[in-house]
Amino acid sequence: MKNIAILCSGGDVSGMNAALKRFVEYSLAKGLKPFFVHNGYEGLIDDTITEAGYKDVAGIIVNGGTRIRSSRSKRFMEEKYRRQAIENLNKHDIGYLVVLGGDGSFKGMQKLGEESSGIRFCGIPATIDNDIAGTEYCLGVDTALNVIKFAIDSIRDTASSFSRAFVIEAMGRECGYLALVSALTSGAEMCLIPEIPYDLDAYKKRFQKQIKEGREYFIAVVSEALNNSQEVAKWFEEEIGMESRVMVLGHMQRGGNPTVYDRLMAFHFVTQAIDGMLEGKQNTVICYSQGGFEHKEIEEVAFKKYQMNAELLKLGMEFGRQQ
Ligand code: F6P
Repeated sequence: MKNIAILCSGGDVSGMNAALKRFVEYSLAKGLKPFFVHNGYEGLIDDTITEAGYKDVAGIIVNGGTRIRSSRSKRFMEEKYRRQAIENLNKHDIGYLVVLGGDGSFKGMQKLGEESSGIRFCGIPATIDNDIAGTEYCLGVDTALNVIKFAIDSIRDTASSFSRAFVIEAMGRECGYLALVSALTSGAEMCLIPEIPYDLDAYKKRFQKQIKEGREYFIAVVSEALNNSQEVAKWFEEEIGMESRVMVLGHMQRGGNPTVYDRLMAFHFVTQAIDGMLEGKQNTVICYSQGGFEHKEIEEVAFKKYQMNAELLKLGMEFGRQQ
């Protein structure tokens, strides 16, 4: 079968459009007919599947979000809707499907693999949370980190003009990766994430000493997973005696002009996905580590808990220990 399709599922990320461009161009170069599935798994069920060509991807590389839209499909959890999705794939003679998304999306993909025959599936990790087991990088993370960097650098301007503590909440669902890397690279004084135990009394001693030595403001980055930004702001007011503000960065972290790194990674991920499926790989996810790209079984990726890089955790531990 020569028809190949792509869909985006779950939270969108910057870099998905670069992936769509590469998908269309590389599929055509390989003699495949590319199709877009609009609205994620919802579109597979509703048959919003259209043939794609060069004109559909012209100029989109600079845009965040995804040109073919995404969804978090509840219906897809039900077998009868997955059956409908498989019928639609068969109707369009689609033999290969690329899924951009997170582990929930890959679990859905695994079900499709089990319940269909003759269709090859390949997942590309795409989530700003960087919380997928087996891969060190997920598409969109670099852009999200740069958006956060810009926000914190801007907040620092106003924080340093007053005597205030800013509590900045970063996304990441259950994972503290975005918060930790952002705290380290923006020079924050405090970082609270679920992966590292913290001691507010130790922070208090340190901050009081720093205030005596002349420190006039604080930047704290906390992970949304802890759901305690307001409490931390109150702690700054009551325990440290400093006026505080909370800044929930929210969905702006998912948007923005994709960085060079994300555009390039989108190209690599899609190339690996298409090459792998053409070579006969079935139901895998492309994972990236310092050694390069590797196809892994879905079970190794979607059903294992993500572990944060040990070196990074070591750096993060220093937040609680500094003098
Ligand atoms: O998974 C990406 C993510 O942006 C998380 O960081 C966040 O917790 C969640 O999605 C927000 O989901 P929604 O866009 O459905 O509000």
